[in-house]
Parts: sequence; structure tokens; C-alpha cells
Amino acid sequence: MTKIALGVTSSIGIYKACEVLRGFQKNGARVQVVMTRNAARLVSPLLFGSLSGLSAIVDLFEEPVSRDVGHVSLAKEVSLLCVAPATANVIGKFAGGVADDFLSTLFLAARSPVLVAPAMNEAMYLHPQTQANLARLRAMGVEFVEPEKGYLACKDEGWGRLAEPQAIVREGMRLIGRTKSLKGKKVLVTAGPTREPMDPVRFLSNPSSGKMGYELAREALARGAEVVLVSGPTSLIPPPGARTELVTTAAEMQEACLRAYPGTDIVVMAAAVSDFRFKDVRPRKTGKAEVPSKLEIERTPDILALLGKKKKKGQLLVGFAAETHDIAGNARKKMAAKNADLMVANEVGQGRGFGTDDNELRIISASGPVHPTGKISKREASRVVFDHIEAALEKKRR
Ligand code: C5P
Repeated sequence: MTKIALGVTSSIGIYKACEVLRGFQKNGARVQVVMTRNAARLVSPLLFGSLSGLSAIVDLFEEPVSRDVGHVSLAKEVSLLCVAPATANVIGKFAGGVADDFLSTLFLAARSPVLVAPAMNEAMYLHPQTQANLARLRAMGVEFVEPEKGYLACKDEGWGRLAEPQAIVREGMRLIGRTKSLKGKKVLVTAGPTREPMDPVRFLSNPSSGKMGYELAREALARGAEVVLVSGPTSLIPPPGARTELVTTAAEMQEACLRAYPGTDIVVMAAAVSDFRFKDVRPRKTGKAEVPSKLEIERTPDILALLGKKKKKGQLLVGFAAETHDIAGNARKKMAAKNADLMVANEVGQGRGFGTDDNELRIISASGPVHPTGKISKREASRVVFDHIEAALEKKRR
């Protein structure tokens, strides 16, 4: 039976937590409620205990209800940690790694998906500190059901009202459902730019932030895959659970990809590999006085094309194509040239694509029509891409 840990904190939206609990139960899950001490002052743990059939846990150091209900063993048992409602305080603690009660300790021990439904006063929600905490958690792969705009307990109207219980339950069940679809599959994802040095202090590169690739790696992990993430230089935190290899140049990326390739079921080349490199890398810094009038450049290896040549039956290759014009046409040509199965094309330039949080993609398969996504977040885009990957795998199997 699926077990869910439901974290309950001391927001006024706490009354909706009972509905969240019941919603998960209606979906066949067993729910272990974990309350903060302040939450237990608002609503008795007995209420949650009676509804769930399992005594609500409040204190880390209290005699556990059962000796097996330590935070680490509970973390191993649950398929989801859902915190609804989540106060600014618990969000801050999660973001900062503070583990001073059962719930915050459970968060650090959890390897399951984590879903957080914030609920607080609008000023607190929109405060740059809360927003920074949310962004930090998002970067770690924590999922959110955003609060809604409406009447708040403080009589203000604004953002910060806990989302509706059904929406929280729906998202929670979706996260649990997707944890298995790629079980047993090995996925290789590349991300970020490469840097091709000219001398020890200068390089040729591009503005790729790596966000798309990191989201893809996270999505593959969330679907149960074993993930190798080969990443060029970025400022992102590698998703926990992935085997991450950090590289700098296209040649290093190629080497890491070739090492991981045998036995890989799915390759997603989201990296913006530099197409050129300097022919001669100068061993010492080139001073102003020695500025060369010409620098010779040469092509870097095309990693995707190389993997395409080595592709075995059953392996699925996905390329990305950043285009400034004739997006679908160019992407199709690249798909054929590189022996890829799917191409994800996006328009870049004029502030689009590189470094942003959202993307507008066109997903193209050899036979099927072009699927335009419209403007969506890179997180959402990674889901759409993997839905297409799973459909393509299914087609290959048949
Ligand atoms: O040919 P173009 O660079 O536009 O193709 C983009 C796709 O090919 C991306 O998936 C990218 O990761 C991959 N690529 C590569 N090696 C290169 C250049 C691009 O694998 N040297």
C-alpha cells in the first residue's frame, strides 16, 4: 500500500489539511501525519490521528509511537512527502537545511518526491527572502502547489491562500504515479554549455545556463530512471540521485558520454556544445601586446552524431536544436543527419531560450507531426519532453 507522509504546519489553512489527508486516503494511500509543535497548538494531533488511523507524530525526541517510526525509517517507507499547509518558517528551514524537529529532519532524510503547498500572508509570501527560499527548494527538485489569490485570515486579500485540497492531492498522486514509468531504464542527459579555451584565462562559449538539462535529469530521476548527468559549467546544484560528471570542453563531454553510453536506454543531449574551438590553445595568458590578428578555429566533435552512429536497437536519442529561423525545418535536417529519434527545437536569440526559466518548444519525431508546447516553464517542458520520450519508446517496442 502506498504510504504518504503529510507534513502539517501552523498556518491558518491547517483546517484544509484534513481534506488533503482524506483525499490521499480516497486514492488508496495510508497517511502518516507529521505536525510541527505550533501546528499541534492550533489543532489537536488526535484529530489527525483519528482520521489517519496512525498517531500523528509531533516531537522528534518524544518516545516514538512505534519504535519503527524514526524519521529515517519513515523517510524510506513513504512514496511522497507532502507539506500542506507549509508556513514561511518551514519553507525557510527546508531551504536552509535546518533540522530541529521531526518534519524538518524528515525532509532531509526523504528520497521520495517532496510536494509543498505554501500558505501565508501575502507580504510574507512575496517577501524576497521567502521567494529566494522557494527558488532554492525548486532548484533542489521540490515541487509546489502554488497558493491562490483570495481572502486571507488576516482579512487582507492577496496571494498566500492554501491551494484547494483536491489540487494538492491530484499533484501528489501524479508525482507518485510518475515515480515508476522509467524504472530500470538508464538515462544519459547532457546539460549546460561547453567552454573551449583560448589560453588559461579566455574561452569560447555560449549563454546556456544548464537549467533545461538539469530539469530533464530531475524529471528522469522522478520517473524512476538511473541518471547520468554530464554537465558543462553552470551555477546549478546537481539533482540528488543523479551521477553527475562535470566537464568543461566538448572533448571532455564526448569522453564522458562515450563512457556512459553502453547500456544506456535514453540519451537526451540538451547541452549547448560549442561548435568551434581554438586550434591552438596557448599555454600562457596572451598579453595585450601580443593580441593576434587572427585566431584559427576548428570544429569540435559532434557528440550526438557520434552516438547516433553507434546507436543500438532499442536505444533512443533525443537532440535539442536551438534555432534562430526555420526552426522545424532545421531541426528535421539535424534529426536525420545525427540519426536522432526525437528533436526538441526552440527559438533562441532576443532573450529567448538561453538562461531563462521558461521555454517554447517544438517536439519533432521522424514520422509524427510537430508538437508545439507554447510558452511553458522548463520544469513543465521537461515533463512534456519525457512524455514524448516514453511514447517513442513504446512505439519502438511495438
Ligand atoms: O548541430 P547543432 O549544434 O545545432 O545540434 C544540436 C544538437 O546536437 C544538440 O542536441 C546538441 O547537444 C548536439 N551537439 C553535439 N555536439 C556538438 C554540437 C551539438 O552533441 N558538437
